[in-house]
Amino acid sequence: MAAITIKNLVKKYGDGFPAVNDVSIDIADGEFVILVGPSGCGKSTLLRMIVGLEDITSGDLLIGEKRVNDLAPRERNLAMVFQNYALYPHLTVYENIAFPLRLAKMDNSEVDRLVRDASSTLELDEHLERKPGNLSGGQRQRVAMGRAIVRQADAFLFDEPLSNLDAKLRGQMRTEIARLQKRLGITTVYVTHDQTEAMTLGDRVAVLKRGILQQLATPRELYENPGNLFVAGFIGSPPMNFLPAEVSGNQVKLPFGTVELPADKAERAAGKGLLIAGIRPEHFEDASIANEGGSQSTFRAKVDVVEWLGNETYAYIPFEAPPEVAAQLQQLEKDLDGEAMRTQLVINLDGASRIREGDEAEIWVDARKIHLFDPSTGENLTVDRDNAGRIAEAEATV
Ligand SMILES: Nc1ncnc2c1ncn2[C@@H]1O[C@H](COP(=O)(O)OP(=O)(O)OP(=O)(O)O)[C@@H](O)[C@H]1O
Ligand SMILES: [Mg+2]
Repeated sequence: MAAITIKNLVKKYGDGFPAVNDVSIDIADGEFVILVGPSGCGKSTLLRMIVGLEDITSGDLLIGEKRVNDLAPRERNLAMVFQNYALYPHLTVYENIAFPLRLAKMDNSEVDRLVRDASSTLELDEHLERKPGNLSGGQRQRVAMGRAIVRQADAFLFDEPLSNLDAKLRGQMRTEIARLQKRLGITTVYVTHDQTEAMTLGDRVAVLKRGILQQLATPRELYENPGNLFVAGFIGSPPMNFLPAEVSGNQVKLPFGTVELPADKAERAAGKGLLIAGIRPEHFEDASIANEGGSQSTFRAKVDVVEWLGNETYAYIPFEAPPEVAAQLQQLEKDLDGEAMRTQLVINLDGASRIREGDEAEIWVDARKIHLFDPSTGENLTVDRDNAGRIAEAEATV
């Protein structure tokens, strides 16, 4: 096991495009770090640079104390678990796991000990004599991990290992990988574009956009204190709502009404003109149910669609954004791979709420949880820097 230190790594492919652009991440021994971001942001490239499958254009890569930039993959002692498990169909599960040990000409009794150890950890004992073709996707995944375990590598590297599985199995495997990583205590770098995987698996998460590290923080820090609009929009499902906002004094004017802000937030956003407010769906509530906050934190709005799910309710409230804000939100949507619908407010209400479609409803908003972003740089003006991990310098564009 070992720490991995990524220092100012740059990868330029043949056409000069920086797929990874000055990324620095310190991964502690035994830590589970996730690389996440939309398609093309450089996740796989960074992982392949760590494992040695891609040259490093500039910067330093250290495993433990040792600089490994110029070492071949097999000299780095890392185990990569690929998306397509690359199992040998003609070999049994046992021999698939044993494969790297056979290559290393290890003697049979030692091979047997390591394979049986791994297989019991992975609950593969009853499948050892079967062929990979007869296994489920999840079982194959575990065989591939078994092969990585027996090599006693210094770290595991995963590139979207679950993306071929169906949703239910993906959930199971996610838990299994998390449990296994904790049990083995092995340094792990895991690439995904799925923010649920990122939030549930990692000790820390590195959010990348176009080759640039945006924020490196624990899942909770990312969720509660996103450093910029991009991170705020990427982490969370349904995503954070973004609304035009104008602060004057201790009040913020939103499309639906004016809400009283905590003094420290108001102060940091004072005099900045038109801003973008970010509010997560669960920070709204049906005012008749909410038991916190005073009348200053409520507004009335016409709800156009209600989805009742039993334990909770989603309500949708359309709004208009002025052109400056609309343009910025459109760009954000493009950066995020255009998943979100951003001209409506999505709010998550208690299942007990009686708000119905078409109602002019009284909605409470938790003003302590409002973020205010600078629309030109995307910077979160109200971020709590002590609880936000490491945030990239603000860029000129979002
Ligand atoms: N061999 C290559 N030659 C030139 N450009 C490349 C090459 N491989 C990747 N790129 C470019 O580098 C950037 C990062 O690619 P990378 O595969 O690392 O993205 P990714 O974050 O893993 O995306 P995905 O989620 O789609 O797998 C992309 O813009 C891609 O077009
Ligand atoms: Mg990739």
